[in-house]
Amino acid sequence: MAAKFGSKIGMIAATVGSAVGLGNIWRFPAETQANGGAAFLLVYIGCVLLLGIPVMLVEFSIGREGGTDAIGNYRRISPKSKWWLLGGMGIAASYMILTFYIVVAGWTLEYFVSALSGDLFTGIADGSASFEGKMKDYVSSDWKPIIFTILMIAANVAVLLMGVRKGIEKISNIMMPLLFLILVIFCVVALSLPGASDGLNFFLNPDFSKVNGSVVIDAMGQAFFSLSLGMGVLSTYAAYFPRDTRLGRTAATVSFLDMVVAFMMGLIIFPAVTSFGMQGESLEGATLVFVTLPEVFTRMPGTQLWAILFFMLLLLAALTSTISMSEVAIRFFQDRLKMSRRKAVLIVMLPLLLFGAINSLSSGLLADFKIFGLTIFDLLDTVATNIMLPLGALAMCLYAGWFAPKSLLARQLSNDARSQGVATRAVIFIIRWVSPIAIAAILIAQFN
Ligand code: TRP
Repeated sequence: MAAKFGSKIGMIAATVGSAVGLGNIWRFPAETQANGGAAFLLVYIGCVLLLGIPVMLVEFSIGREGGTDAIGNYRRISPKSKWWLLGGMGIAASYMILTFYIVVAGWTLEYFVSALSGDLFTGIADGSASFEGKMKDYVSSDWKPIIFTILMIAANVAVLLMGVRKGIEKISNIMMPLLFLILVIFCVVALSLPGASDGLNFFLNPDFSKVNGSVVIDAMGQAFFSLSLGMGVLSTYAAYFPRDTRLGRTAATVSFLDMVVAFMMGLIIFPAVTSFGMQGESLEGATLVFVTLPEVFTRMPGTQLWAILFFMLLLLAALTSTISMSEVAIRFFQDRLKMSRRKAVLIVMLPLLLFGAINSLSSGLLADFKIFGLTIFDLLDTVATNIMLPLGALAMCLYAGWFAPKSLLARQLSNDARSQGVATRAVIFIIRWVSPIAIAAILIAQFN
């Protein structure tokens, strides 16, 4: 019996759990900051609506039709074709992202632990330490981040071993509502800070002179990354969807919630930064969450409590996302190579110890080892997010729109209705024409 999610809520929670992650909480504010604020937000929303949702529908359709792993889906739907290679690329790319994502997940665990113990704040008040120094020390330490990366891998293994329903679904059911609750609390606090309006202005008042090609490619990459698209993660989850799941509604719900989380993070971070007069301190996006926010917490009553809550939020979000990335490869070993769940989990997760360590060291010992001027970590992030994800998404649209059996999209999107409504036909038109052309144009523009 193939694995299935047990309830509608559980299915949504697990899929949202995959989508909502470091991408929303850490990467989105960083990208918004780097790309000039509100104009980026608008382009991002456009990318989610025009490209993200259609591609998500393609992945859902392929996954539920095939009902198996990322490679197997293509073998079942289009036997004797080479499209399964696309699934193979997806498995490789999601594993690649996992190798650095798990390291950042390890950072969040470290921050959570040191917020709990209070270490995070020692020496700050008397000026003998700074958050920036702490972050640098931590990230560039040789063994510490590796230990926490290993702990995160262990947490993943524990959940994954319990399986789809009892592990992934159950943990998402608990964690996602908790995550939303914590976010709402932070939003209320941040928006009531004095001087919040300057931050809101940066985040919400667009300056279109800042939109250029690189803003658009970053926004598209961010949209695919944040929605977990382009590499078979969501098609793997869609194989666990019950037959009567309405794909359109599910895609809309998941994308909406994912955007809401990113949006709320913007509402939290930018007002907090301006309220405490920190916008002048040439902030690098990547440090917003690990340096700026702790600084903000020290200026609020209840410092430690806020820090604990926030890093717990980050941890929950990271965990449900790493689980989904791991599941892609695990499902492949289980279904294609007929391994037991246990064996598949170990085969996928153990090598991660090595790859995670290499990525971790790329901020320390290996920081000077650069390819194209980027550390291993940054190179993997850029190549995977800005090239592999869009390419994967583009190929999937072409496959589903033009090369798969003609009935695939029509049947899946309408849940086997005899006649397709206007909405179904419109979505199919977008998948065949609009999305591929737009993705290709943005990709090509990047190289000019
Ligand atoms: N979407 C997650 C986030 O925003 C990360 C993620 C999970 C992902 N699965 C993925 C990114 C697959 C790309 C592809 O943090």
